[in-house]
Amino acid sequence: MVRKYSFGNPFPTDAVIKHYPAEQDSLPYFAIKEGSLYYPLPADVPVYGLGEQVRGINKRGWSYTSNCSDDPHHLETTHSLYGAHNFLLVGGSSPFGIFIDYPGQLTFDIGYTQKDLLIITPENWDLDLYVIEEEDGLLTSIVHTFRQMIGRSYIPPKWAFGYGQSRWGYKTEEDIREVAAKYKEADMPLDAIYLDIDYMEQYEDFTVSEEKFPDLPRLAADMKKQGIHLVPIIDAGVKIKEGYSVYEEGLEKGYFCKEEDGTPFVGAVWPGRAHFPDMLNPDARRWFGMKYKVLLDMGIDGFWNDMNEPAIFYSEKRLNQVFDEVAALKGQNLDMEKNDHFLSLVNTLANNPEDYRSFYHEPGNGLPKIRHDKVHNLYGYNMTRAAGEAFEELEPDKRILMFSRSSYIGMHRYGGIWQGDNLSWWSHLLMNVKMMPSLSMCGFLYTGADLGGFGADTTEDLLLRWLEFGIFTPLMRNHSALGTREQEAYRFSNKAALRNIIRLRYCLLPYLYSEYMKAALNDTMLFAPLAFGYPSDPHASQVEDQLLLGESLMLAPVYQPNTTGRYVYLPEEMLLVTTSGPEDLRFEKMTAGHHYVPAAEHELIFFVRKGHLLPLAEAAENVENVDASVLKAIAYTGTDTNAVCSYTLYDDDGYGKDYNDPSHLSVIHIEADGTVSCEGSEERTITPCFICS
Ligand code: GLC
Repeated sequence: MVRKYSFGNPFPTDAVIKHYPAEQDSLPYFAIKEGSLYYPLPADVPVYGLGEQVRGINKRGWSYTSNCSDDPHHLETTHSLYGAHNFLLVGGSSPFGIFIDYPGQLTFDIGYTQKDLLIITPENWDLDLYVIEEEDGLLTSIVHTFRQMIGRSYIPPKWAFGYGQSRWGYKTEEDIREVAAKYKEADMPLDAIYLDIDYMEQYEDFTVSEEKFPDLPRLAADMKKQGIHLVPIIDAGVKIKEGYSVYEEGLEKGYFCKEEDGTPFVGAVWPGRAHFPDMLNPDARRWFGMKYKVLLDMGIDGFWNDMNEPAIFYSEKRLNQVFDEVAALKGQNLDMEKNDHFLSLVNTLANNPEDYRSFYHEPGNGLPKIRHDKVHNLYGYNMTRAAGEAFEELEPDKRILMFSRSSYIGMHRYGGIWQGDNLSWWSHLLMNVKMMPSLSMCGFLYTGADLGGFGADTTEDLLLRWLEFGIFTPLMRNHSALGTREQEAYRFSNKAALRNIIRLRYCLLPYLYSEYMKAALNDTMLFAPLAFGYPSDPHASQVEDQLLLGESLMLAPVYQPNTTGRYVYLPEEMLLVTTSGPEDLRFEKMTAGHHYVPAAEHELIFFVRKGHLLPLAEAAENVENVDASVLKAIAYTGTDTNAVCSYTLYDDDGYGKDYNDPSHLSVIHIEADGTVSCEGSEERTITPCFICS
């Protein structure tokens, strides 16, 4: 059951796609006092949600702010990352969900100020609030209802489930060809190479450097022959430069965000001075979205949208003030206070809240112009929506890969997200693990972190362990920053280990794709905390480093250096699979409870749940060559010898949009005596490779 409460004059975010009449009676659960919502949190009640945020799966104990931020410091004490996902799920014996549809700054103080209080504070009270409860009292049912409210998650092309290589630092066509050749030489599968900002002419969106990439269509075609897709980056800021058509058109049509006096706002990003398209204005949005055609026409079929919080290195106005103030300090004795002030002048130039208060959007549809900070969290969402809506128009029958850095709930219908500028830290591998279920709750199914870590120098063991988790995340991309250690998988000494782990991704693909499609089409979670699958197990809610993935798997990644195994909690008996690659699958039945499970650096462990089945394909050099008609299957019936394991496999061509065609479904049954049957219109050969009886 969903109840909606409206306060003030909410800005239409289009996050919720269903219509709910606003309730007139008072809000349940919460007291409203002095501009905040208060809910007394019983001890032991976990609080889930918030999507892309720091800390645990259970969010208690910290204060989180929805304020899309370009902040590369993903620390335990960080308050905001790139997304604003205002959905919370309060557990306990009568759980409920709350979604606050509010595009301004919003703070969720979950037992930080006072251990037993949840305090939610919006900057102002123009908002819609939804309370979700379900009769069965299940967390999964509440999430399901919420996901139905916000609409179907984005579905990428199937090739986007392959392994991708990226680096801020590939500067020329030769660099790209070299990456492809080196992967081939190392016999490592690869489906995508990402183009970072250097492919553009002076960081101008929708241009290609003639000098560095003289013939992008040919390069894209050559790569595609090898099964590799090129995925260029698009940034939010449009360079101010006479003669640059995107700038000139945007200016002429009045499509850039403007200051109070109507002059376009000037902020700087990679190209220096830039204007920011008014992504909240439907005409400007359409105009910007249609620009992707330039690259689609060159044979490009995937993009990543960046710097769309929007990130601003400095505003023209503030920069001038800072120069004046710094000049005034010259020759003075800089004591502690003055030195602090001096340092803060430059340090607060980027992403300054005052700058966000100095420009406006014209949302059209009879709505008055609105100051950016009041709708700040919608910018990245609407940049990605611009692209998504244009793709529908330009390529109605084809899926285009799209993922964004900044997001708000609602954007999950147009694209995925990557988890931003993490570091090559073990703790960031664990953060990646913890973020996956929170993002699933909020509809962001197509997601993953920069594997190996973006900033700082990676190490071989970290990359390997991160890939061992990354092979399960829908977006599986190795990406790193300019100036850091190069981290393409072929650069490290134990190539065989890295190769085998990457190849495993392709074996898992039929399952991963099938679970993804079912989660998207049925509005369910892809990754879930253990407590969601085992609601009556009191220990399950304590587990922060294991996840359920789809219906059959439990993951227990190794995320510590110099370890050759880990402790795992099993809520019920399960089948342990230990593997160092497609040719090496080992099985062990495990009882419920705590276990120490060995996993050498090159080995991956995961668990098949009782009564479930895992289909596996042969490894392949790319997604196109994965053959889902010849499958092996691991079936774990548990100790019940009469049990049958059944699995509904979803498979399609991976490009089209006839998602609900029944021919995409096959049902596989494996009995404890090894009898296999498969219903469905596709011919499939299924060989059991492990059956527990
Ligand atoms: C931002 C992105 C990062 C990208 C870099 C250069 O920091 O988050 O992924 O490599 O910009 O474009």
